[in-house]
This record gives sequence, C-alpha cells and structure tokens, in this order.
Amino acid sequence: MRGLITVLPGDGIGPEVTAAGRAVLEQIARRHGHRFEFSEQLIGGAAIDAIGEPLPDGTVASCKDSYAVLLGAVGGPKWSDPNAPVRPEQGLLGLRSVLGVFANLRPVRIYPELAAASPIRADLLEGVDIMVVRELTGGIYFGEKTRDDYSASDVCKYHTHEIERIVRVAAQLAGSRRGQLCSVDKANVLETSRLWRDVTNRLIAAEFPDIDLETLLVDAAAMHLLSRPADFDVIVTENMFGDILTDEASMLAGSLGMLPSASLGETRRGLYEPIHGSAPDIAGKGIANPCGMIASVAMLLRHSLGLAEEADAVEQAIASVIADGGRTADIAIAGAPVMTTSQMTEAILAQLD
Ligand code: IPM
Ligand code: MG
Repeated sequence: MRGLITVLPGDGIGPEVTAAGRAVLEQIARRHGHRFEFSEQLIGGAAIDAIGEPLPDGTVASCKDSYAVLLGAVGGPKWSDPNAPVRPEQGLLGLRSVLGVFANLRPVRIYPELAAASPIRADLLEGVDIMVVRELTGGIYFGEKTRDDYSASDVCKYHTHEIERIVRVAAQLAGSRRGQLCSVDKANVLETSRLWRDVTNRLIAAEFPDIDLETLLVDAAAMHLLSRPADFDVIVTENMFGDILTDEASMLAGSLGMLPSASLGETRRGLYEPIHGSAPDIAGKGIANPCGMIASVAMLLRHSLGLAEEADAVEQAIASVIADGGRTADIAIAGAPVMTTSQMTEAILAQLD
C-alpha cells in the first residue's frame, strides 16, 4: 500500500524516539513491499521556537492529509513559565481536538521478563492484560479556564454523546477480549461523573447486554490497579483520570517508556504516540526507551493502515528483544549491559529481518 504519514518529533526525547519509530516503518515498508511517504512537521516547544505557536497551520494541514500521525512528545522546562502566552501542550491538545480523536487506547501489556523491573510483586503481574480507553477530547482539559490574582478555575464538562461514543468503543473492545468493562469515575462527588455513570449503565444495558460491567471510583481504581491488576480487562474513563491511571499502570509493565497509545476518531486516521512525556532530564543523551514508540507504530499499522500482519511482526520483534535480554536503562537488569536508544532500535530492526 501507499500512504502519507505525518511525523511530529516535538520536544525532549520526542525526536530520539520518533526516529526509532520511523526507522521501523521504513523497515516494514522495505520488507513488505509498501511505500510510506513521510512529512515531518513542527509541534509543541519546537514549533513555538520556530514560529511562535505550538500548532502551526501547516502541521494541521499535513495531519489532515495523512493516513496517520506519529508523535514523539511535547513540553519541557524551557516553555514552562506559568506566565508564557503559549505552551507546548496546547499544540498536542489542539491537534487531538482538530483531528477528532476522542478515543485514546492505551494497552498495558506485560512482558514476563520485565517482572523484575516492576515495583509490583511478580505473582500479582501474572495474566495482566489491560486496555485503558481514555476519553481524549473533552472534560477538564478542554473546559473554560479563568485566572486572576487570587483565583483560578478549570471547567469540567461532558455531554451525553461524548460519553456514549467512548463507552461504545470500550464495550466493543471488551467484546473482542474477555468481555469485562470497568468504568472509572468519581460519582460520589462530581456531577460529570454521575452523568458518566448513568449514561454508561444505560448504554451497556441497552446495547451490550453480554458485557460484564463493573464501576469503580477513581481513588479505589488507583488502588485496585496495584492490588489486583490481573482482574481488569477494559477500563473506560474520562480524560484526566485516564491520564493519571495510565502513568500508574505503566509501572505494571516496568516503565513508562513501554506503553504505546492510539488515538482514534470516526475515521481510520489516527494519532499514535507513546504515553510518556518529553523526559527533559534524559533528552539528547540517546538513552530513552524506544519501545513505547515502536509499539505505537504497531498500533498505527494495525488501526490506520489495516496491516495486521506487519503490526504483529513489530510487536513480536519487541517481545523477542526483551526476551533476549535487550534493555534500555529504565528497564535494566542490575549488572547486565544497558542499550542506548539506537542499539535497542537496531536490535528490534534486526528481529524484523
Ligand atoms: C499524555 C500527556 C499529555 C496529557 C500532556 C503532555 C498534555 O501527559 O499524553 O498522557 O496530559 O494528555
Ligand atoms: Mg500523561
């Protein structure tokens, strides 16, 4: 197949891991007879530095023209002045919004060989396979904001249709997995959560009677994720809870650097990014873990390009390298050699050959 892919390296370790993702796509194209074209564009702090805004029109146009968008990370101390007129994160939020990618899929896959890298007891990690479905274009991230000298506010608002469409995505996924859906909210305190819970209960009863629905308050969910992680199948939740719970869940996998994500909307075009941030503390050192990015490439191949076999091959290559002891610093085994970003990427590329 042919296809245009917009590549957005962004800030911090973004460019390093994005180069790894792109190398994997190029290798897949060579090996499987596809022609992917790439358009590299600015976003985040890099775009602020270049043209003064975090989401240039040219970037949006290129993304809209593409089959898929591959993004590294945005943000960093250089652009974190609380009084700055624009912030890198606005570029990412704006992009998610204009692309209409409301469903953020964050799979938590455990590689058994990484159990020692996790702070959680190995016996609790057995059988863990979670898909977190995070609502991505609504809630407190996008509500009205105010600020004066003595107060500030962020509005959290959800419409019924926004809840229905994300719960449908999650329920369909659950139907193709173990049939269990856990909806996470804070219905004992928040009105948006009470609406979320009502809509979810009604929709599942009406459209997905075979799905086994559990509801958890977000504070309890944060605890259950650590005490009984293997019980979860699909978790669906609102934007901010999903952001927080997936950083927590990444510790089951051993490192924030392991988790990929796919952000999908009504069309097949998707936005793919590792869930980690720009990690300014290790940026430019060549030591970032590229696995979350490369696993995001697998999701891109599967969801936006319909290349399931190629996606499986990429996931298999990551698993083989990990099984063979390939480790970046974040998942290192004490006393064993540590790989750089490019060594890890080369090892995965070699597996793909
Ligand atoms: C994520 C990140 C972003 C978010 C930031 C960079 C805006 O933390 O993708 O999880 O909060 O959504
Ligand atoms: Mg986050």
